[in-house]
Amino acid sequence: MKKKLVILTGAGVSAESGIPTFRDAVIGLWENASIEEVCTAGCLEKNAERAYRFYQELHDKYKDCKPNQAHKDIADLEQDYDIIVITQNVDSLHEQAGSTNVIHLHGNLNKVRALDNPYLLWDWDDSVIMHEDTVIDGHHIRPHIVMFGEDVPNIIKAQKIVSDADICVVIGTSFNVYPAARLIQYVPEGNPIYYIDPNPATLTSDYLDIQVIKATATAGMKELISKLKEND
Ligand code: OAD
Repeated sequence: MKKKLVILTGAGVSAESGIPTFRDAVIGLWENASIEEVCTAGCLEKNAERAYRFYQELHDKYKDCKPNQAHKDIADLEQDYDIIVITQNVDSLHEQAGSTNVIHLHGNLNKVRALDNPYLLWDWDDSVIMHEDTVIDGHHIRPHIVMFGEDVPNIIKAQKIVSDADICVVIGTSFNVYPAARLIQYVPEGNPIYYIDPNPATLTSDYLDIQVIKATATAGMKELISKLKEND
């Protein structure tokens, strides 16, 4: 039986693919938009034109980004481990790299959904222009993104998966956004948690076994793989 390895990823895993991290406003993904204006519950009604345009621009800008070596190494680990990736990211780079079991906590920028039905999804291909008046199959659409203040539909499923992890790996997250930031608390006591981040958040816990790998995602994955081999 393969060990269950759960990988929790944040924006940092895609940084080396050219997608700036959420809080890295200096480089710019979000610098021209205030979070309140375009990322909070209700923004699609309150700031419709601005918010819809923002997501269209985001989609256009990042749709051609490619997975980096960290995404690929995560996918390759499926040969030796039973892997589930739980990501806060809205890109599809884990899937593109070959990961077969990916759960998105905050939605996916490659999909749109019906405004009146969160389960009705369509691919966001070039034929779809994100606008408040855009209608598909009789439904007005919105980006398939979880905004601040909205429910995170996959969180219960994610908690269950993490509570079954033999090993947990966390990559490139600032642990700022809840409930995702709370997920590591579900790792069974004594099972190892590796946290890869060049600028890691300070995590203290009496019972969690957290080992920090202070490195970028690509360098950190190399180090992780040799640690996993050592411990096998
Ligand atoms: P943040 O932007 O808060 O944090 C990114 C983390 O990545 C930081 O800890 C950086 O140190 C780290 N980092 C930077 N470069 C890296 C690299 N090359 N390799 C590895 N790590 C690197 O992003 P998240 O924690 O993912 O939600 O933010 C969580 C959520 O905040 C996002 O999913 C988004 C936002 O609200 C929604 O879209 C709903």
